[in-house]
Amino acid sequence: MKRVIILASGAGSNAENIINYFQNSTEISVVKVLCNKKEAGVFKRCKKLNKDCEWFSREDFFKKNTILDKLIEQTDFIVLAGFLWKIPEAIVKAFPNRIINIHPALLPNYGGKGMYGMHVHQAVKNNCDKETGITIHYVNEHYDKGAIIFQIKTKLEISDSPEDIAQKIHTLEYEYFPKIIKKTILKDGC
Ligand code: GAR
Repeated sequence: MKRVIILASGAGSNAENIINYFQNSTEISVVKVLCNKKEAGVFKRCKKLNKDCEWFSREDFFKKNTILDKLIEQTDFIVLAGFLWKIPEAIVKAFPNRIINIHPALLPNYGGKGMYGMHVHQAVKNNCDKETGITIHYVNEHYDKGAIIFQIKTKLEISDSPEDIAQKIHTLEYEYFPKIIKKTILKDGC
C-alpha cells in the first residue's frame, strides 16, 4: 500500500475529490491532510469525510523539522492540492519525484510566485486567451518548474468570466488529478 499525505491551503475541493477517489483503494491510501491555514475550508471537508486534517505553522514548516520528520515517517508521496507555500529544499530532497502538484494553467504560462487560484484565471482572462488548462507536475526547488507529468486543455469563450474559467479548470482537476496521481504513484514501483 502506497501512502499519500495531501498538503492544502484553501477550500480543499481537490483534497476531498482525491480522498473520495482512493477511499476503497487497496493500492493507495490517503493518510491525512496537512494544512497551513487555520480558517481553510479543507478542515470542514475532512471532518465530513472522517479524515485527519492537521494544522501546522510557518515555523513547523520552514524552521523546525516538524513537518519534514512527520512526512518521512508517515508517507511515501506528497500531493499538493491548492497548497500555496514553497516547499523547503529539505522536503524536496527527501522526496525526489515523490511530490506532485496541480497548477490551474498550462505551465510554463502563468506560473511562479503569486500565480495561484483566481489570480491565474484573472490573468488568463486579461490576456483574452482562447484556451487554458491544468498542469500536473513534480515539485522541485523552484515554484512551478518541476518536470511536467500531464497537461490537458479546455477551450475558452470570449464571454467567460474568471469564475467561469475557474469552473472549467475545476472540472478538469476533478476528472484527471486522482487518475494521474494513481498512474504516477503506481508506475514508480518502489
Ligand atoms: C486549485 O484550482 C488548484 O489548481 C490551485 O488552487 C485551487 C485549489 O482549490 N492551485 C494553485 O493555484 C497552485 N499554484 P481547492 O482548495 O478547492 O482544491
